[in-house]
Amino acid sequence: MSATFAELWNGIAPIGRVRNGGYLRYALEEPELVLRDWFRNQAARRDMAVTDDGNGNLFAWWGDQWGHDAVLTGSHFDSVPHGGGFDGPLGIVSAFLAVDELRRQGHVPSRPIAVVAFVEEEGGRFGVPCLGSRLLSGAIEPEKAAALTDRDGVTFGEALGGTPAGRLPGLTGRINALVELHIEQGRALDVPVGVASAIWPHGRWRFEFTGIGDHAGTTSMADRRDPMLTFAYTVLAANKEARLAGALATMARVEVEPNATNAIPSLVRAWLDARAAETGTLDGLVDAVMKRAHDRAGRDGTEVDVTPESFSAEVTFEESLAGRIAGLLGGAPVLPTGAGHDAGVLSAHVPTAMLFVRNPTGVSHSPAEHADEQDCVAGIGALARVLGDLT
Ligand code: GLV
Ligand code: MN
Ligand code: MN
Repeated sequence: MSATFAELWNGIAPIGRVRNGGYLRYALEEPELVLRDWFRNQAARRDMAVTDDGNGNLFAWWGDQWGHDAVLTGSHFDSVPHGGGFDGPLGIVSAFLAVDELRRQGHVPSRPIAVVAFVEEEGGRFGVPCLGSRLLSGAIEPEKAAALTDRDGVTFGEALGGTPAGRLPGLTGRINALVELHIEQGRALDVPVGVASAIWPHGRWRFEFTGIGDHAGTTSMADRRDPMLTFAYTVLAANKEARLAGALATMARVEVEPNATNAIPSLVRAWLDARAAETGTLDGLVDAVMKRAHDRAGRDGTEVDVTPESFSAEVTFEESLAGRIAGLLGGAPVLPTGAGHDAGVLSAHVPTAMLFVRNPTGVSHSPAEHADEQDCVAGIGALARVLGDLT
């Protein structure tokens, strides 16, 4: 079977799309489960055997699934809530189409090629990003992953149907390279295809601001212990500290109890996403935000408790592989990114590389995320060339 980009892309475009044009594709929930069925179907049409690693990651094999020195390519189906449709699925669609292109050329791979769909890359449902690749590589314990809960209290273990398998050296040890194709998420790429050099270190910290819930109409301003004030100050402090450090800080998810118009809240729970080019800068930024939050809590009569939820260390993609790919693509630009990826997590265990497809506006994690069709087609051609070269 050989399909065009438009055929495959239009086939999945409606799945999980909501009214604002963005996507709700939470891992292991209905729209993402439909995409996983789509994956199995695409594999079957290409005579590729599908395996599940017991962590929720799917593999479609061209060649021996037990073979050595396999070359993996793919990405993830899940989206951030109301995110775009390209972040993740573009890498999987492009992977199947690159297989088609290689077969059209009569390429006979010297080692297995596998298309992979990693589970829960965004951490949009269970909170920890790149959960599937962390499990596979042993960066998180299976029991800890199994106990992670979504907003409705469903655990990852329940959604998966059991405790994940965890670290699989027998599988990662048989991978020669992973090449993830992804839409570029900034404004730095002005040609159709680029190559990743590095991923900034980044992480997520949960802040719980507690105070005293009370009546909005009867509690004097002087008597209040309002955690919303501490939270609001912390948001502004994070923004200021990030600007001073030349780093990035975002507080974009918040839960309020009781979340009533006429009640002073008793609790505000909010998440800090912080990133920087260097680990030292990131550590300094997070320390500074925590200190400002605690200082302010002292003045508001509130309390603040901070829990680190996930951390992704700085990644430098293997220079020889990135250089080889850039050369193969006629001197494609090599650029770093502040976005996290499964390829980053696995780079500690197997040689990994990433191809970026131009994003004309740079907007991502938003319904406005977009890549032009001709750039996507160029990305598929580039991926086919890379896979052909590696196999
Ligand atoms: C993943 O897309 C992230 O960088 O948050
Ligand atoms: Mn993303
Ligand atoms: Mn992604």
